[in-house]
Amino acid sequence: MRLPSKTGPDYRAAAVGWRFERPCEHYALVTLRTPRTSDVRVVSAAGARSASIDGLLVAAWIALCAAGIVGCGERTAVERGEELFRDPRLSPSPTSSVSCRTCHTPGPATADEILPGGSLAGVVGRPTFWGGRVRDLRQAINDCLRFFMRHPSEEGLTETDPDGLDLLAYLESLGTEPSEPVPFTVPLDVVDLTPGDAARGEPIYDAACRTCHGAPHTGRGRLVAQAAVIPEDTITEHAELARAFTVAKVRHAQFFGIGGDMPPFSLEVLSDEQLSDLVAYLGY
Ligand code: HEC
Ligand code: HEC
Repeated sequence: MRLPSKTGPDYRAAAVGWRFERPCEHYALVTLRTPRTSDVRVVSAAGARSASIDGLLVAAWIALCAAGIVGCGERTAVERGEELFRDPRLSPSPTSSVSCRTCHTPGPATADEILPGGSLAGVVGRPTFWGGRVRDLRQAINDCLRFFMRHPSEEGLTETDPDGLDLLAYLESLGTEPSEPVPFTVPLDVVDLTPGDAARGEPIYDAACRTCHGAPHTGRGRLVAQAAVIPEDTITEHAELARAFTVAKVRHAQFFGIGGDMPPFSLEVLSDEQLSDLVAYLGY
């Protein structure tokens, strides 16, 4: 599929009709919003002062930009979008520490990562998302912001949100050819699994769980402060049902009435065999 040039104001994204804005105005909007977490995190007077100096510099820069004295296109929308993809602050929640990149790769899958979200290479060309449950790309992303990144609103990125447009430009740079939906099978009935091979389970834990939960038994190095110390927290809470609960948690995560922030691992991403090796490694 041939897309129109990305430079005109009327450029439209292939899949969703998010409207692309002229880069100069667009950059000004994004810059004005930085530092984006100042409202929730900057508490010291020094921080407030430097934020207001930043504001003055930004205003001066925008004036020069509008007068055509300085160039505005130094960082492309794609580059800004890639930064946002890796930045937990895309969600305004001060207690979210995960970014899109925590759960999705922009390229082909590699052996050292088992990510709950699929690869986003070519995502713009897919007809449906979330295993066919969602038809709109922006909604698919807003679901992630709300479920996993603690975004307080259902419509995290509106159609005109500059961050959303930058993110879209980045996703488009990963390919726009029409492609097949990515399967995402979450079993409705989760059955307990007999423990498999603990030695095989260790690299599976490292690839799938360690980023958020840190080291087993201690949680050392964990990314997410709210992530449980496994398996101890689960054993404390669920006693002899701890293994069955872990299997259910990995498959259903926060859905089906469980609650929390964790993402579900589908059968395509993590097989039952891998999951039984994992619970053996955790010592259930
Ligand atoms: C905590 C993990 C997690 C985070 C963080 C996350 N996602 Fe997701 N995302 C998922 C899961 C799980 C799915 C459902 C499986 C799938 O379709 O890839 C999903 C689905 C998607 C889909 C639909 C893909 C498809 O083809 O079905 C898109 C697009 C997407 N996410 C984009 C994003 C973007 C952009 C961000 C950052 C704003 C983000 N996600 C943050 C886990 C996450
Ligand atoms: C994107 C981050 C993330 C990933 C990846 C992740 N978890 Fe979690 N997990 C969490 C968070 C946050 C919690 C606490 C909130 C909740 O219950 O959802 C949690 C909770 C849990 C619990 C519940 C503990 C209890 O008893 O309350 C279990 C069990 C668990 N995770 C197992 C796993 C396993 C096994 C993996 C790897 C297959 C994994 N998690 C991958 C973020 C993650």
